[in-house]
Amino acid sequence: MCGIIGYVGYRRCQDVLFEGLKRLEYRGYDSAGLAWRENGRFECVRSIGNLESLGSALAARSAAADGSESSPVATAIVSAGIGHTRWATHGGVTERNAHPHSDWSGRVRIVLNGIIENYLELRDLLAAEMIQCSSETDAEVVAQLISFYYVGDLSDAVRRAVAVLSGHFAFVAMCDDEPETLVGVRHECPLVVGIGDRELFIASSISAFIRHTRRVAVLHDGEIVVLRPAGVTVFDVDGFPQAPRESKVDWDEDRCEKDGFETFMLKEIHEQPTAIAETLRQTRVTLGPAENNPLGLDHLRDVRRMIIVGCGTSYHAGLAGRMAIERWARIPVEVDVASEFRYREPIVEPDTLVLGITQSGETADTLAAMRLARAQGATVVAVTNAAGSQATRDADAVLFTRAGLEVGVAATKTFVAQVVLLYALALNLARARETLPTDRLAELQRGLELLPEGVEQVIESVDGPIRELAERLVWSPFFLYLGRLSGLPVALEGALKLKEISYVPTDAYAAGEMKHGPIALLSRDTPVVCVATEQRVLPKLLSNLSEVRARGARVLAVATEGCKQIAEHAEHVVYVPATDPLLQVVLAVVPLQLFAYHLARARALNVDQPRNLAKTVTVE
Ligand code: AGP
Repeated sequence: MCGIIGYVGYRRCQDVLFEGLKRLEYRGYDSAGLAWRENGRFECVRSIGNLESLGSALAARSAAADGSESSPVATAIVSAGIGHTRWATHGGVTERNAHPHSDWSGRVRIVLNGIIENYLELRDLLAAEMIQCSSETDAEVVAQLISFYYVGDLSDAVRRAVAVLSGHFAFVAMCDDEPETLVGVRHECPLVVGIGDRELFIASSISAFIRHTRRVAVLHDGEIVVLRPAGVTVFDVDGFPQAPRESKVDWDEDRCEKDGFETFMLKEIHEQPTAIAETLRQTRVTLGPAENNPLGLDHLRDVRRMIIVGCGTSYHAGLAGRMAIERWARIPVEVDVASEFRYREPIVEPDTLVLGITQSGETADTLAAMRLARAQGATVVAVTNAAGSQATRDADAVLFTRAGLEVGVAATKTFVAQVVLLYALALNLARARETLPTDRLAELQRGLELLPEGVEQVIESVDGPIRELAERLVWSPFFLYLGRLSGLPVALEGALKLKEISYVPTDAYAAGEMKHGPIALLSRDTPVVCVATEQRVLPKLLSNLSEVRARGARVLAVATEGCKQIAEHAEHVVYVPATDPLLQVVLAVVPLQLFAYHLARARALNVDQPRNLAKTVTVE
């Protein structure tokens, strides 16, 4: 996810901005840039790649400008500037598409996070006024608009521009004619102000400026903020000036990077609603009606067979995706663990669509499986969270999950993002192939859009009880996870999370298979975690649970709100909102992630970096 930093103060601006971007690096990016005023002129340096490339570009510019690499003091009494780390959405990873963007005259510059949904329409309107954009980005359109509306007051021009924008975004603008002013807008994307001693900061996350100040002013959606050396003014949605709502943050830098959570894993569990919402927004762009789109409706209509490959959690997402594609779009789908697929002489044909799911985009087995499928003539689509990763280079097309960088080793937010992305694709396939009635399509689409809210609700309602439960069961020697249909990938994922971060032996099975062997493991000491969300097999599942209880084992269940029968079969039930059972995968996995998390913490384990595990597995 992109990062924003802005500064008004007495320090050497580019140093403060660069350091701020370093603090935002953990969010992931593929290019970066800064714009600031120096010696009465706007300077702008952008580069693709990491911040080291930007650092070299800055050093080269300084050396060319004054023969010195950098000087620690500001060259003007007040300096102001903006910086950005970009993760490409509109247009490729090029220097021209990197932020800051400016209008045609170079007078206005902006850095923007989020997506301007009507940017094509606005670009046409600007073209009618003879204003041409030079990049492929939506951000440049906003810079051009602000310049178009500018008549001597930047905040007024920004307000007029915002009035015609649709989408979700946060941006910070500056203008040559008001060199000491920054104007920021928050519209469904984070933006926060830092208030220092004779200096001001504005950023997409407090971590960008926590080293300099702990006084923050939080902005509400729709608000516009003006930063000048004299202070901060916030304008509410109706344009009335407000005093900034100031508070003090007492986190240390480490905690700040974790947004106040005790671990990255917990932070990332809480980020799931945003990861889902961002992924759905991005998917609307990728699966949209653009010409020559390999994932557009015309191409999807011709798909005859699909294969999904992935490892670990990504494989589990693939299992859920298969159910959606088969149920909704009636396309036969095979799912395989990538390490098996590549060696089993699979049958791949030119009309097969292959999805390689890998959050890191670097998992060797998945990459090898994708290359094999491509060599055999299939169209290969990478489903990944990492822009610029190998998977994006090896595929015919890319579908990005927008979960932001996942620091914890346990995949959490990337899993839910993968699942919703596959569901969005399944709905598009169903739309293209007309396999679902329009009202059913609309109902599922609506259900998908409501998932961020649903996940938030689940986290809030189950976190406390799950923690108590995990503390009670902390020394159980073995856990069996059961599920049927869409409950099975959830059970597999829950079991993987628990063994991965708390080193407790677990197994996961299709509940109907339990009597064919695993039942022998059950005793009074065995907690059996059951995902009981699929109504169509609920009676079958309940009879499987009777077999469990006959062995004296205790049942913990995840079930649908309103399901009465489950309480008779389980010692502890966690309820998730009622919706389509496939959509419930995203809701039902949350209690299991939290369970694994709290159990590991109760064992005093480091959940962010478990032993023997690396975030990216590049070798088999
Ligand atoms: C799950 O918590 C793991 N981190 C692991 O199973 C992971 O999903 C697997 O290694 C695949 O990684 P990838 O998605 O980056 O390819």
